[in-house]
Amino acid sequence: MISVVLIGAGNVATHLYKAFSKAENVSVTQWYNRTRSSISSYVNEVDITDSLKDLKKADIYIIAVSDDSIAQLSEDLPFSNRLVAHTSGSVSIHDMNKKNKLGVFYPLQTFSKNTELDFSEVPICIEIIEKKNLKLLKDLAEAIGCKAYKVYTEQRQTMHLAAVFVNNFTNQMYRIAHEIGETENVDFNLLKPLLLETARKVQHISPYMAQTGPAKRNDKKTIKRHLKQIEKDEHKKIYELLTNSIKKTHGHR
Ligand SMILES: NC(=O)c1ccc[n+]([C@@H]2O[C@H](COP(=O)([O-])OP(=O)(O)OC[C@H]3O[C@@H](n4cnc5c(N)ncnc54)[C@H](OP(=O)(O)O)[C@@H]3O)[C@@H](O)[C@H]2O)c1
Repeated sequence: MISVVLIGAGNVATHLYKAFSKAENVSVTQWYNRTRSSISSYVNEVDITDSLKDLKKADIYIIAVSDDSIAQLSEDLPFSNRLVAHTSGSVSIHDMNKKNKLGVFYPLQTFSKNTELDFSEVPICIEIIEKKNLKLLKDLAEAIGCKAYKVYTEQRQTMHLAAVFVNNFTNQMYRIAHEIGETENVDFNLLKPLLLETARKVQHISPYMAQTGPAKRNDKKTIKRHLKQIEKDEHKKIYELLTNSIKKTHGHR
């Protein structure tokens, strides 16, 4: 049985809590958040606290708080020589206080608190400083049905950067499409089959091969018409930037 103390109560921590609670070989010893009210509804199923000095002993401490607060929080932990891992894709393992044994437990997925997610589909990228701590973090990932991948810092940070393009920027494109559609009462639901097919297609062919559209075909008149149609300058700039990027990739000047 792996005992875990979970620190934080945001999107990732909430999903991890649910996954850890369901896992046969994991027990959540305690759940900490600086704001008690975010976890108070779990009081009947797990020991909760908003006081770092009351943290109990566990095999692993998972820090799932905002990137900028990881370093300070690791410093504020009132113990040493225990295994502490953060869940960030970009924060260096060395940013955490060295009084503890350090690790990273980065789930490469997008988490929103109130959206269901199948954890068995989530790759967990693991980083450690001392090799002997790898097994415990790997076992924890596997206990919740995930595949664990040992990575080094630059790999994890590059994956996170790529993930920003794949997820955050793509999602912003959905948002802009939603906004543009609203100008002519276009129902965003009509775009959903296209949106799903875009993601499905790259499961089988490369993004290079999957590209279609006016920029790839170099249909200049259509591009001109689109630019005339777009109302917001900001959207125009994004359209031009991405059109030029696609043209360059596909050999048009
Ligand atoms: N969301 C994702 O899709 C995703 C995916 C992979 C990895 N991650 C990583 O997972 C970590 C958590 O992300 P998240 O999306 O779950 O964040 P989130 O939903 O914004 O939650 C942030 C958590 O950090 C706590 N917090 C913020 N500032 C703090 C401080 N100064 N001291 C102590 N606690 C503080 C918040 O406490 P309060 O409730 O008191 O505000 C909250 O529990 C980040 O390192 C992120 O990079 C996120």
